[in-house]
Amino acid sequence: MTKAPFTHALITGASSGIGEALAHKLGKAGVGMVLVARRKERLDAIAAQYANCEVLAADLTTDAGVSAVLTRLRDSTRTPIDLVVNNAGFGTSGNFADADPERLSNEVSLNINALMRIAHEAIRQMQPRGRGYLLNVSSIASFQAGPGLAVYSATKAFVTSLTEALYEELRGSGIRVTALCPGLTHTEFQSISNTSGLESKFPEFAWMSADDVARDGLRAVMEGKALCVPGLVNKSLTAVSTFAPRGLARRIAGFATRLR
Ligand SMILES: NC(=O)c1ccc[n+]([C@@H]2O[C@H](COP(=O)([O-])OP(=O)(O)OC[C@H]3O[C@@H](n4cnc5c(N)ncnc54)[C@H](OP(=O)(O)O)[C@@H]3O)[C@@H](O)[C@H]2O)c1
Repeated sequence: MTKAPFTHALITGASSGIGEALAHKLGKAGVGMVLVARRKERLDAIAAQYANCEVLAADLTTDAGVSAVLTRLRDSTRTPIDLVVNNAGFGTSGNFADADPERLSNEVSLNINALMRIAHEAIRQMQPRGRGYLLNVSSIASFQAGPGLAVYSATKAFVTSLTEALYEELRGSGIRVTALCPGLTHTEFQSISNTSGLESKFPEFAWMSADDVARDGLRAVMEGKALCVPGLVNKSLTAVSTFAPRGLARRIAGFATRLR
């Protein structure tokens, strides 16, 4: 990573996948970190590898978990955070009506509510300083409806839309906001979201590693881009969603995301 324009990052969902890859990249670049997720032992193992790294174990589907992160962002006795990465998220595969409604509520709480509250506090803290960076991890699923992953796609549409709006609101403020929109990425997402079937459905060239996604995301942050779609395959799929008639994009997405 080239010299980072930020010195202290807070990363949600840093215990695995894309968040963990981001933590290693930032840690190796000498950026101080606050690592957030539920699995504390995993965060401790990552934190032990880098100087100046705090661990904050929190369940971001709960008010208490979100409050703990907001409190850390506001804490003026500790190093201010100048990069906030809203990365924690999960999905639920299958037909909407068959899904456990509790699980869907938790998905909305994490992917939307926690992300929105953390983004809001981060920007409030950055405004008086006149600088800062916010990276929201969205998905290429945000660009069209996702039959078979309906709630997940809808939450990510929120993330991309919010991020693009904030990018314009904050133009000229010194605060840069980026949405990272990965496609298929090998992480724990597949087992947790019950989408492991995608691994046999799509050829390996359609997949990216968490490390490559993290690299492209951080590059986009440093370049002050509003949107980052990593990888050629994902860029091509996004172009289809953007330019195809809405009904056609919906049908294609249904073929791609439906596993049953
Ligand atoms: N992998 C893909 O194909 C793909 C594609 C597009 C977008 N994305 C997005 O990329 C982001 C990262 O996902 P990933 O692929 O890296 O999946 P992952 O390996 O499952 O990582 C998800 C992270 O979120 C954390 N998390 C989950 N529930 C949480 C909760 N209630 N409170 C706090 N943290 C929680 C997990 O930590 P704990 O379990 O320790 O809490 C973990 O660190 C997500 O927003 C996902 O939607 C993934």
